[in-house]
Amino acid sequence: MEPALHPGWPATLGWGPVELHPLRRRDAAEWARLRQANESWLSPWEPSSPVPWQQRHTPTSYRGMRRAVARRARLGTSLPFAVRVEGRLAGQVTVDNIVRGALRSGYLGYWVDRRVAGRGMASLAVALVCDHAFGAGGLHRVQADIRPENLPSRRLVERLGFTQEGLLRRYLDIDGDWRDHLSFSLLAEDLPRGVLARWQERIPR
Ligand SMILES: CC(C)(COP(=O)(O)OP(=O)(O)OC[C@H]1O[C@@H](n2cnc3c(N)ncnc32)[C@H](O)[C@@H]1OP(=O)(O)O)[C@@H](O)C(=O)NCCC(=O)NCCS
Repeated sequence: MEPALHPGWPATLGWGPVELHPLRRRDAAEWARLRQANESWLSPWEPSSPVPWQQRHTPTSYRGMRRAVARRARLGTSLPFAVRVEGRLAGQVTVDNIVRGALRSGYLGYWVDRRVAGRGMASLAVALVCDHAFGAGGLHRVQADIRPENLPSRRLVERLGFTQEGLLRRYLDIDGDWRDHLSFSLLAEDLPRGVLARWQERIPR
């Protein structure tokens, strides 16, 4: 039998207050509002663009982005999730540029609304997506490339058990220039009890 073209997609994931699902058409206005409100929070970590932030984050840009990621998801090269916290749209977690065959690896990207940051919700969302990528998604490795200055993001992957593998020189064109990135990865066999179990170990009692 031929392997599935898009293993693990579409999917809805959830635990506690966090739910992840494919991007919905009806979230266009809410996404644009969130992205506009979070410009100073997000822009230091986002790809460079000649188009001003406010013009790149409209309901129309959401619809274009949604179509593009849905196409990649159908081809099996992306697992693009919207994040809801307590029912409200609060960010995105995506495993993108998935390569199958002997590599079976993808690149992790994520952001959350500043108002939900610092409560463990982003790391919970990333944990759920990694477990899904290693399970139904059939991946062996997830890579996260993070600017050395991005301490919250480094803490997030370190707490979930990722290993730092190296420094990628002037690797990505982010916020107006080529930026060094630290490369982290998690392998399917690194956490035999799963990534959610790792996240749960840190629930404050
Ligand atoms: C990177 C980003 C997603 C991290 O979000 P965050 O809210 O700091 O991450 P978490 O939701 O995991 O929150 C961590 C905090 O929640 C708390 N927490 C509560 N329960 C927890 C649990 N079970 N597990 C982990 N943390 C928990 C911790 O105290 C932790 O605080 P600490 O850093 O003082 O240890 C966020 O800063 C962001 O969106 N930044 C802008 C975009 C960006 O940088 N994207 C990534 C580019 S590489």
